[in-house]
Order: sequence, then C-alpha cells, then structure tokens
Amino acid sequence: MGSSELIFRGHEDETTLPMSDTYSPKRPKPWFLPITRPVHYILREQRLVFVLVGILIATVIFSIFPSRQSQQHFNYSPVPYGSYFSDESTSLGGGFAAAHRVVYERRGGFVGKVPLGLKRKGLRIVVTGGAGFVGSHLVDRLIERGDSVIVVDNFFTGRKDNLMHHFGNPRFELIRHDVVEPILLEVDQIFHLACPASPVHYKFNPTNVVGTLNMLGLAKRVGARFLLTSTSEVYGDPLQHPQVETYWGNVNPIGVRSCYDEGKRTAETLTMDYHRGAGVEVRIARIFNTYGPRMGIDDGRVVSNFVAQALRKEPLTVYGDGKQTRSFQYVSDLVEGLMRLMEGEHVGPFNLGNPGEFTMMELAQVVQETIDPNARIEFRPNTEDDPHKRKPDTTKAKELLGWEPVVSLRKGLPLMVTDFRQRIFGDHKDSSSDMSSTSTA
Ligand SMILES: NC(=O)c1ccc[n+]([C@@H]2O[C@H](COP(=O)([O-])OP(=O)(O)OC[C@H]3O[C@@H](n4cnc5c(N)ncnc54)[C@H](O)[C@@H]3O)[C@@H](O)[C@H]2O)c1
Repeated sequence: MGSSELIFRGHEDETTLPMSDTYSPKRPKPWFLPITRPVHYILREQRLVFVLVGILIATVIFSIFPSRQSQQHFNYSPVPYGSYFSDESTSLGGGFAAAHRVVYERRGGFVGKVPLGLKRKGLRIVVTGGAGFVGSHLVDRLIERGDSVIVVDNFFTGRKDNLMHHFGNPRFELIRHDVVEPILLEVDQIFHLACPASPVHYKFNPTNVVGTLNMLGLAKRVGARFLLTSTSEVYGDPLQHPQVETYWGNVNPIGVRSCYDEGKRTAETLTMDYHRGAGVEVRIARIFNTYGPRMGIDDGRVVSNFVAQALRKEPLTVYGDGKQTRSFQYVSDLVEGLMRLMEGEHVGPFNLGNPGEFTMMELAQVVQETIDPNARIEFRPNTEDDPHKRKPDTTKAKELLGWEPVVSLRKGLPLMVTDFRQRIFGDHKDSSSDMSSTSTA
C-alpha cells in the first residue's frame, strides 16, 4: 500500500478538491500574521517604551566606548592593537604621542578613544645587537620610555656589562642568538643593529645580508615595523661633498671593506624590497661616525683608538697624512635620531651624523687637549679604500624628523674619556650619572 492511500483514508469528501503539492489539513494562515504578532506583543503593556529605552542606552554606550571589534578588523598585526600606544606618563612628549597617533591611524584607518582610566601599554621592541655600543644606549632610552625590550645578541662584539643595569627589570629580556639563524618573537618594532661595525671585526663576520633577511622575515610575519641601521659607508669614497641621501656612492665592490660597505648596501636593497613587495613598514638610517661611552676599547675605530692610546700613554696613530676628514656624532644624538625615525612617517634613508667636519689631525689635537697635551702623534701608511672625506648633509632629517645633533665633539669627548678611564684602569667611580646626563644634552 502507498503512503498516499494512508493519508487520504477517512477523508473521502476532500478527494473532490483539486489535488495540489501544498495540501495541508490546517487552514492557511493570513500572510500578514508574522508581522502583526510581534507588533501587538510590543504594544501590549508598554513594552515599546522598554525597547526604546534599550536602544537609547546602547547608543550612548557605543558612542562613548569604541567598538573593539572594528579595531581588530582593521589591524592586520597579530599583536594586540592597544600595544601601539605608549604609556603617556613616560612618553617623550608631544612629538612621540603624535607619532603613535600616526601609527594608530595608518594601521587602523580608524580613530577611537581610549576609555578614561585605562592606561596605554608600552611597545614590545626587539633590539638586535642591543649589547653593543649604540644598541645598549638605545635600550636605555626605550626602557626609560616605558617599553618592553628584548635584546638579541651573540656577543661577538657586545658585552653583557652594557646591559647589566637592566637585569631583573621585568620589561627587559636578553637572548643570546646569532641573527644569521631565524628567530620568532612577537613584537611591534624591530631595531636591527646586529652587525660588527669596526674594520677589525667586520672582516671576520659577514652578518649583514643573512641577518637582515631573517629580521625582515620576522617583521613581515608578525607585522612589526623594521628599522635598519645602515652606514655612511654606503657612499664609499664619495665624489660628492657633503653627502646627500640621493647620492648613490662610489664603492669598491671587491675591496677589503666591501663586506661591510656592500653588505649594508644589500641590506638597504632587501629592506626596500620587503617594503615594496611585502608591505613591511621599514625605516633606514645611514649612520655617520659615532662615539661615546661603551665603545669597544680596541675596536680599531679612530676615536676609540686615539682615546685609548692617549690614556695608555701610547702615541696616537694617524693613518696617511691625517688630512682625511670625518664627522663625529655623540651617541645620545644618534639614539634620539633613531627613535624619531622609527616613530615618524618617513621610510628614509636618512643621514644621521654630526655635520661638524674634522681632519684626523684636528681630532688628534682635540684628544691631546682633553687627555694629554704631550701625547705624541705617529704616522702610518693608510689602509686600503680609506675614504678621503665624510660629512653628512642632514637637511632631510632636520626637515622631516625635526632632528639635529646637539652635542659637540669638545663636549662629548670628555664623557667618553671618563668611561674609558674607568674601564682601562678599573677606576670604579660611578659613571652612570655622567652617561645619563648626556642623554638629555
Ligand atoms: N658606531 C658607529 O659609528 C656606526 C656607524 C655606522 C653604522 N653603524 C651601525 O650601527 C650598528 C651598531 O653599531 P655599534 O657601533 O653599536 O657596533 P657594536 O659592534 O658595538 O655592536 C654590534 C652588536 O651586534 C652584535 N652582533 C654582531 N653580529 C651579530 C650576530 N650575527 N647576531 C647577533 N648579534 C650580533 C654584537 O655582539 C654587538 O653587540 C651596526 O649595525 C653598525 O653597522 C655604527
């Protein structure tokens, strides 16, 4: 027996009705019933008033507090959105807060308000090469600003001593790691400094290309902003003086210094490729000769050489005729420039250096005046590919970052001498006040 026969049994009178697919034993409901029922329900017992009051409360709440959902929708970084803000109480003032607002607006395309009473978080920042000379001063400033800092360093030229004053601080971490190997860290910003910077070291450690590639890969993966510390060496032995960022340089690709010069040029290329090709937010600084406390004592750079020699009562070694020029920047000026560059809107490259120009002989004289007027000068044959002139044009940094160096060589050198004297002769007089006083100079 078919199922249709079971359905129709006992309802013979209805077999005369036209057969249809929509047959139902119940009478069809009027079409407007689904609309009128809820309306009747709302109108009964003043329920409409409650609905309107509910809408009003929701409107007030959502106009005062921004929706977190819309923030997350625009933020492509896995790092919590709020972490792009710094603690206002420890920020560098208006310029820094404004820079963070730029990050906020560009990343989110959404401007919201932070509810009253909620503290803004510091950033999570990795500093590769943070145990070195420049890196350790940068770490000091970032910690002072209220950020959380992870230092990644293999201690090739860096020293734990440079960072010991942060040990025990919950916002500070130190990882022994060689950046030629990949590493995964969740951070907002990457200051990439890891690279031996003096001639005696960089010949034995071609870190630049692979290390930079790994750090760019990390920046891409976690959506962090990446800053490369490039160098004035990208200009080689310059045919243009002073050097402007648009100058492409005059570099020997196969000389003894090429691993550093060409390594940094390649690092710049990779940085721009990741920016254009993968949308990574990048910044490039071209750093000119920098000096200050915590420099490697025997690292072969001219200022540290002269200071250490004068303190040890050894002759100051001048290579060539001593007429080649350099400009010398105090480390606190550089750190200020790096931080402004990272927080600003411009990719660069930016020259960061002191435009004051000195011949090697003039530098030797300043060292004599500062340490020992009787220090002898000894001439030696010049090294291969030593540039004849170096002087930054810093107009671009001044205009776009509002940055210019403020510490002169005669002011900065004595601060470095104090630090070198303590390290060479083991004079344990506390030098922290000397160093911190320069960071605001
Ligand atoms: N100081 C200057 O005058 C100057 C000038 C131009 C550019 N720079 C650039 O600034 C950066 C810092 O220079 P600095 O003067 O502080 O030099 P530095 O040698 O004192 O510091 C470099 C740091 O990087 C670390 N490092 C080196 N190779 C590494 C690796 N493979 N993995 C992890 N860590 C590694 C070292 O241990 C050290 O702590 C460098 O990139 C350098 O090229 C410096």
